[in-house]
Amino acid sequence: MKVLIIGSGGREHAIAWKVAQSPSVDKIYCAPGNAGIAEYAECVAIGAMEFDRLAAFAKENQIDLTVVGMDDPLVGGIVDVFEAQGLRVFGPRKNAAILEGSKAFSKDLMKKYGIPTAAYESFTDADEALRYLEKAKLPIVLKADGLALGKGVLICNTLEEAKAGVKEIMLDKKFGSAGNCMVIEEFMTGREVSVLSYVDGKTIKPMTSAQDHKRAGDGDTGLNTGGMGTFSPSPFYTKEIDEFCRKHIYQPTVDAMAAEGRPFKGIIFFGLMLTEDGPKVLEYNARFGDPEAQVVLPRMKTDIVEVFEACIDGTLDQVDLEFADNAAVCVVLASDGYPVHYEKGMKIEGLDAFRGKDGYYVFHAGTAKKDGNIVTNGGRVLGVTATGSDLKAACANAYEAVEWISFANKYYRHDIGKAIDEA
Ligand code: AMP
Ligand code: GLY
Repeated sequence: MKVLIIGSGGREHAIAWKVAQSPSVDKIYCAPGNAGIAEYAECVAIGAMEFDRLAAFAKENQIDLTVVGMDDPLVGGIVDVFEAQGLRVFGPRKNAAILEGSKAFSKDLMKKYGIPTAAYESFTDADEALRYLEKAKLPIVLKADGLALGKGVLICNTLEEAKAGVKEIMLDKKFGSAGNCMVIEEFMTGREVSVLSYVDGKTIKPMTSAQDHKRAGDGDTGLNTGGMGTFSPSPFYTKEIDEFCRKHIYQPTVDAMAAEGRPFKGIIFFGLMLTEDGPKVLEYNARFGDPEAQVVLPRMKTDIVEVFEACIDGTLDQVDLEFADNAAVCVVLASDGYPVHYEKGMKIEGLDAFRGKDGYYVFHAGTAKKDGNIVTNGGRVLGVTATGSDLKAACANAYEAVEWISFANKYYRHDIGKAIDEA
């Protein structure tokens, strides 16, 4: 069969790599793709938001299955456009992708169905939000309602900061229309865990756990980024916690969406915080995490195309989802200065060192081809992943492989996966 993947980051590279393992796949296309994805897929120069052109491409090329990696097209309704044209596509429809697209929606859903999350209020009026802050407990968390490239969350330690935050989000519209509405919620403390899951509208199959390192600097210092590295599994995500989450968070979320007339098919990514009062939902995403996918997919044993098809057909209950009993660590190689100012166009060397080495992967996030060379083309450039028998081994392997790559302004964190020492 022919598969089209939509997206252009490290996550889509990991998806393309995994799809390429499937015995049922003959040909992969990726729109728009990147220089690394081009090893497995024919990259097509159509943007992820050009729904009509993408659907026309899928028809012309008799694509059997389209997989949408990114949040923007999902929230924008790409699945509805494909389905209306009789095309098979993996991902939630617009009315279900709202689980990620609107924080006010997801918080209201959790409140209505008793799914554990931080206490909150939503606001569409800045004055009301400011009045609410006067009596709120600090620190306090402000969230723009809509998609904001993962940057629409402000943690405020003082009333002044919080007031300035409301102004930025709702009045100055720092995150555009994502700030027409906002959520103000209780600050929680605890370990964060990401659990991605496959969902077919009624059945949910959680994947193995992972943890992201979002801050730019070692020791979780510096600015928030799209993610500087991940490890899987999380040693903090115990069997008891998993059982609690399946019963009180995962299945209730799927059931709630179905009850609301918004059956969810695709990936639900649960961003969890393990608080003293038990696990609580920080956020939902409607897609694979990036760079969570780069550690979870290399550990997945089951044919991913079979799972995608089962989600579309509503037969996920018949799938035996298996993960290897090992661990994986992904270290993101970024351009120095990310996430603020950084230079692009640096020649990357050492990519060939990964060829034929089992358990070592280099996923491209921001690269391009220029004059026959592969050059840096973004803040996050590559995700270097390695597996190992346990996290310590995976971590040592990943940091060994980090040294194989060089480019002029290479920057990375030195402590990805090291939190395990505290487990
Ligand atoms: P989100 O995009 O909602 O996952 O938020 C981004 C990050 O902000 C999370 O990964 C947490 O580190 C932090 N965060 C979000 N909500 C809260 C909260 N209620 N309490 C503490 N930290 C939070
Ligand atoms: N790594 C977090 C995300 O994909 O949203």
